[in-house]
Amino acid sequence: TGNVKTIKIGFSQAMTTDEWRRQMNKSMQVEASLHPEVALEIKDAQNNVAAQIKDIESFIANGVDVIIVSPIEAKPLSAVIQKAISSGIPVLAVDRKTDNEAFTAFLGADNIEVGRNAASYIVANTTGNVDIIEITGLKTSSPAYERSLGFSQVLARNSRLHLTQTVNADWEEPAAKTAFKQALQANPNTQYVFAHNDRMALGAWQAAKELGLDGINIIGVDALNTPNGGIELVKQGVLTATLLYPNGGNEAIRLAMSIYKREPFAKNNLLSTIVVDRNNADIIKNQADKVAQQQQVIENQLKAIKVQEQEFASQNLLVKLLTFF
Ligand code: FRU
Repeated sequence: TGNVKTIKIGFSQAMTTDEWRRQMNKSMQVEASLHPEVALEIKDAQNNVAAQIKDIESFIANGVDVIIVSPIEAKPLSAVIQKAISSGIPVLAVDRKTDNEAFTAFLGADNIEVGRNAASYIVANTTGNVDIIEITGLKTSSPAYERSLGFSQVLARNSRLHLTQTVNADWEEPAAKTAFKQALQANPNTQYVFAHNDRMALGAWQAAKELGLDGINIIGVDALNTPNGGIELVKQGVLTATLLYPNGGNEAIRLAMSIYKREPFAKNNLLSTIVVDRNNADIIKNQADKVAQQQQVIENQLKAIKVQEQEFASQNLLVKLLTFF
């Protein structure tokens, strides 16, 4: 059909076990299919650092034009990313970073700001002493480090806020439930919990419920617009608030194209975050619904175009056969 794929983009995704990352893949695929010159290949490292290194090695070996990567951990991915860049392939880090900043560009929300916003929310909505527990994501991943950093910066300026315990749950709900249960038993006066994502926030809520402790305010991160996502959890009163963490899939493909075309681009490309609580959850949900509808319309149109292309190709073949005989 004359659609020459001239821009090969390889995306090394950290894992696809959760909805946030499935949405990220989806929005990259939709954006890529809007540009016939783009060939997007996604490799899923299944949360395994060694597998992710291999995935990037194979993108290098296959000579892709641009690599997009969401590095599972900050340190162990640095070397292979450096290798890609040295071999002339630009690397766009999304969502998570490597520790030496040796990537071509970064795109994602500012995780230090996410942490600061969570703490500022507690400052703005409380008086007097407040006991807080923090539940961190995988410690060796950059968003966990940066969310903690931002959170602690604001706590340091507000002496009435006490971080009594920090527990790690590697981004996942079951681990958060177990770790938080213990932490809460040790600190029954806890008023606020900052969980580094909504899955862990939900685990914390379950733990509190099983201990019969209600009235604990839980703050999460992600704010997905799905049945068990953060926006819904805020609307149900399960979470007090969540910080919107956009996946940036569409923007990543467009930025990768700009980098390939040698158009000017910024090294640090920040997506905006916002606090979602019961005051704005309905509005945010409406907005997210509209975006989802538009995405669906685009997908339907793309499918219709594919069908037409196939019909055209088979008619063409028929014409060729008829003229041949
Ligand atoms: C998804 C996720 C999100 C979190 C992000 C941080 O895999 O765990 O919940 O915000 O990764 O990189």
